[in-house]
Amino acid sequence: MMRLFIFFIAILVLNSCNADKKTEKNDKKGAPERPELSHDSKIFLGNRLFSEKTCITCHAVNSKKIGPSVVDIMHVYKKNNADIVAFLKGNSKPIVDSTASQVAIMQTNIDGFLKKITDEELNAIATYMIHVDELSNK
Ligand code: HEC
Repeated sequence: MMRLFIFFIAILVLNSCNADKKTEKNDKKGAPERPELSHDSKIFLGNRLFSEKTCITCHAVNSKKIGPSVVDIMHVYKKNNADIVAFLKGNSKPIVDSTASQVAIMQTNIDGFLKKITDEELNAIATYMIHVDELSNK
């Protein structure tokens, strides 16, 4: 009988240890994981980021400002099957305008504030650019 009792206590203690571990794990993980954003949400977020992150001050949809227009960028990116996110992360070379002074302007952004933007946000920006280009070609 005593053995059974000790066994029972042991099970209780073990269980409470496990429970502690579980909460610890959850605390460390922080916010629960979210599912991937829908296509529409990406466009919405990308649109907001395109102005919030000042891309819009240099890139208009259809006309050249300080940088090439979104339509011109997309024209070259589509033709080369190139990846905007890779460029914004500094992992691929410029292919739209390779004039040194122009590249330097955009490179400053890549080395600066773009480092602080998450992959999900960069992905949203790229989705938005593709979307805007599709709309203006209709
Ligand atoms: C201060 C002006 C400026 C801002 C702000 C700016 N850009 Fe640019 N961007 C340029 C210039 C100039 C070029 C042309 C040089 C080049 O192609 O790299 C360029 C080129 C690009 C290209 C084409 C790169 C290639 O392959 O040649 C992409 C894509 C791009 N910008 C995206 C963005 C996004 C997204 C943002 C906002 C997060 C942004 N830019 C903010 C000036 C700017």
